[in-house]
Amino acid sequence: MKAQLSRRDWFKSSLALTAGLTLSPMFVDKLFAGPVSAAERHQWGINPYSPNGNNIRLNANENPYGPSDKAKEAIIQNLGESNRYPFVAQSELRKMIADKEGVDADHVHLGAGSGAILCEAGVAYGLNNGEILSGFPTFTEMMDYAKVFNAKWDKVNLNDKLEFDYEAMASRINSKTKLVFVCNPNNPTGTLVDPSIVSPFCQDMSKKTLVYSDEAYLEFLEPEMQKKVTNIDLVKKGMNVVVSRTFSKIYGLAGLRIGYIVAKPDLIKKISQYQMGIPVSQHAIAAAKASLGDTEFMSLSRSKNTEARGHLEGYLKKKGFSHGKSHTNFMFFPAPIDGKTILSRMQQKNILMRIWDYQDMEWCRVSIGSLDEMKQFTQAFDEVIS
Ligand SMILES: Cc1ncc(COP(=O)(O)O)c(C=O)c1O
Repeated sequence: MKAQLSRRDWFKSSLALTAGLTLSPMFVDKLFAGPVSAAERHQWGINPYSPNGNNIRLNANENPYGPSDKAKEAIIQNLGESNRYPFVAQSELRKMIADKEGVDADHVHLGAGSGAILCEAGVAYGLNNGEILSGFPTFTEMMDYAKVFNAKWDKVNLNDKLEFDYEAMASRINSKTKLVFVCNPNNPTGTLVDPSIVSPFCQDMSKKTLVYSDEAYLEFLEPEMQKKVTNIDLVKKGMNVVVSRTFSKIYGLAGLRIGYIVAKPDLIKKISQYQMGIPVSQHAIAAAKASLGDTEFMSLSRSKNTEARGHLEGYLKKKGFSHGKSHTNFMFFPAPIDGKTILSRMQQKNILMRIWDYQDMEWCRVSIGSLDEMKQFTQAFDEVIS
């Protein structure tokens, strides 16, 4: 064994360390919502994805205002419980969620982010060549995971308003469809379909198969609208429907990893049997308990998001760029120049965003940061595309 590292060995090991700190495109595939586009693969191949504290991060639909002060305080207060498994805390949070949603606690299942539960459901319904039907593009974590277990994913393109096309989806369902994935509002488009279309669709489909209603961005709608859009009433009526929510978005707890589903107990049992270990930590639960239903913080996030999104909408209008009508903390519009150039030049300006491939075109998906960040974005983007 060599007593000392040679200069060359040292250089090699420090290179390996550096490589370990950045994320390969393959890992990024798992990390990001939706498929990684050709432009992203190229950009991260030459300049591996390595977010740092100085980037303006408009690439992951995070909440720039979170966590709330209440959540931070709860985490600090809870540190002393780190030696305890979170059994009691979990039951308390499930009860709180159940009370808020108007169901019993046996209707609630927690996960390390709603993405982890999407994966559990992907296995539960994708095994044995199960088929999953969804609109496309959408949030693909469930379908990507189900495919690992040989499930088939049947995608139905969006309509020309970049919305889920529920009529086309209804006509595609068949006897092998084990699950229909609904995302309203949808990621990556931000578009919302009126509940007068979505609710009857879910009711009809739930007679034939399981309907999984991903409501990750529901709380960006005004409270009255949230009540109309959520499919929670269908769960309460005992239908074959799962409602999925997350603490990552309006509550600003993406880094803590906590989300939940609400469904009737037999569905909870079928999905949760694929949960790995005890994935949700004491601290995530403490923050979630302090955040759940915190109307003050939610309305602050919502109104600041609307204002900052308005700035981006104004810019896109001024440039004459079409876009999906966003009801969320991100916007989706056709890339005005090629995606590789956009990504690399924006990254040089320290701004991260996404490029999607859809229907032989490239699309920009830009998360809504603070108003100041959006002003920096529009100025930088304008320089990049000029
Ligand atoms: C539509 C949708 N569902 C679910 C998730 C998963 O979020 P998390 O695992 O952080 O709860 C995301 C994340 O971006 C999303 O966009």
